[in-house]
Amino acid sequence: MTTSERSPQSESESGSEFLTASAEETRALARRLAPTLRPGDVVLLVGELGAGKTTFVQGLAEGLGLDPQRVSSPTFVLIQEYAEEGAVPLYHVDAYRVRDPRELVEVGLEEYFERPGVTVIEWGDKVRERVPPDAIEVRFEVLEGDRRRIRIRRLQRPT
Ligand SMILES: Nc1ncnc2c1ncn2[C@@H]1O[C@H](COP(=O)(O)OP(=O)(O)OP(=O)(O)O)[C@@H](O)[C@H]1O
Ligand SMILES: [Mg+2]
Repeated sequence: MTTSERSPQSESESGSEFLTASAEETRALARRLAPTLRPGDVVLLVGELGAGKTTFVQGLAEGLGLDPQRVSSPTFVLIQEYAEEGAVPLYHVDAYRVRDPRELVEVGLEEYFERPGVTVIEWGDKVRERVPPDAIEVRFEVLEGDRRRIRIRRLQRPT
């Protein structure tokens, strides 16, 4: 484990900032976030194509006790469910092809927030208005090579 993934580079009201230098480091960061999540939590992943969003979901899955190899981008379905005995379920949404957030409402997105698992949404900025106000936002910035700057913050403290 490198220093960059062990502790945030900076911490403030606006969240924590991390630097990762490989896909494995990004997975490790997500694995550490996973146990802090509770059923009903919603995680929005925001970042360009290939930034590492699906890689992050693999780490979340592993941290929740699920098999990360089952995680792939849901191509034909908008929402993929991962559930295993003894693990916290993960609902994986890819909003890339969504043109209007209502499409996700139609397939029952909001019902997932009431279920006993964590919802993670790639291209989460497209559905920001449709998620609980205390959603967690993870922003990816592609730096040179394999480096990524990853900022994690809760949009609003739960009351
Ligand atoms: N520091 C890093 N963190 C995450 N992924 C990295 C990193 N460095 C290199 N990579 C590589 O970048 C790619 C990220 O792909 P991934 O599918 O996770 O991106 P994505 O944001 O989900 O893309 P898309 O927008 O197409 O869904 C992978 O091939 C991964 O190995
Ligand atoms: Mg992806």
